[in-house]
Amino acid sequence: MSKVVFLSVLLSLVVNLFSAWFVPQTASAATLRQAATARNFLIGSAGSYWRFTNDASYQNLLANEFNLVTPENEMKWVATEPNQGKFTFYAADQMVKYAQSKGMRIHGHTLVWHQGLPAWVQNGNFTRDQLIAIMKNHIQTVVSRYKGKVQEWDVVNEAIEHKGNGLRDNIFLRVIGPEYIALAFQFAHEADPDAILYYNDYSTEIWPLKSSTQYSLLQGLVASGVPVNGVGLQMHEYTDTAIPLGTYANELSLLGNLGLRVSITEYDASGIQPASKTPDVRASIQAQNYSNALSACLSVAACKSFTTWGLADPFSFQPTFVPLMRDASMNPKPAYNSVLNTLQTF
Ligand code: G3I
Repeated sequence: MSKVVFLSVLLSLVVNLFSAWFVPQTASAATLRQAATARNFLIGSAGSYWRFTNDASYQNLLANEFNLVTPENEMKWVATEPNQGKFTFYAADQMVKYAQSKGMRIHGHTLVWHQGLPAWVQNGNFTRDQLIAIMKNHIQTVVSRYKGKVQEWDVVNEAIEHKGNGLRDNIFLRVIGPEYIALAFQFAHEADPDAILYYNDYSTEIWPLKSSTQYSLLQGLVASGVPVNGVGLQMHEYTDTAIPLGTYANELSLLGNLGLRVSITEYDASGIQPASKTPDVRASIQAQNYSNALSACLSVAACKSFTTWGLADPFSFQPTFVPLMRDASMNPKPAYNSVLNTLQTF
């Protein structure tokens, strides 16, 4: 990042943080969605059918604040094909109908992953050809059902070992081999050639070995003509200091240089660490992390969307970390104001 760009980003960051604390709630009637749409940007959240089944306020708040939604669990293998060849799409269909009714883009999540996998796949004792056929059938049944409705998919999720030491051991790697990754993208592309197909993983912005392993994987896929179009950085941050904007921007621009669309796909940042600091200080660190990540995305042309992993803390997969932009009363936290100001002023 050039010095001029960095300084302008830094100045904008200071302005954002100042205004995040001193902008009265009534001063900005805008929502995140209005601010993002005004700059042709996608601001998203994980959404859960099971949470909003009978909760119109949740449905309305999610749609008021976001123009992009990722079904948190409804499209995972265990939800859509719990038994071999027996597909169940009710919850996923409700999510798609909801998103369409609210004019929200849908980020499908996720087709091939070592978690959210039914036991019949995990313990199936299949031959290589059998598992390839099973994976193809699953991917193409799900993707073709939502062709033209789900614009983008996390095709393969977390295929790299936790800390970046090569590929993660999972049933697909053991039985099919590393080619399972390319095959998954090929199958998804055949089912919907217009869908934007992502590889999705976590912590590559802070772990150099994982970053280089991911870069090599994606570079190889792109060079081989595999139809991978994007990379999702989950960014679940457990940090007691603010991760520098430049750290985020470096990882995003590195991946953008591969010609891939880059997205922040599951952002949340712990608001309870360090215990040694006051709640206000912890909330300010959280607000700065959200602003740094979003500012980095907005500073990299290839970064097209910023999705947070839930509407409010009680809905987080880890609620004790209070990692989201709204509290248990659904009220905006400093992180919300920080994101809104960044969208309006960066
Ligand atoms: O739907 C069943 C319900 O019928 C059952 O009674 C209940 C108790 O067993 O489980 C329910 O399923 C749970 C599901 O969430 C829906 O609530 C699963 O047990 C539970 O494991 C699942 O957790 C999700 C987790 O992924 C694993 O799929 C979290 O909500 C979700 O936030 C989390 O999200 C992941 C992303 O998909 C990938 N990146 C990491 C991220 C955080 O782990």
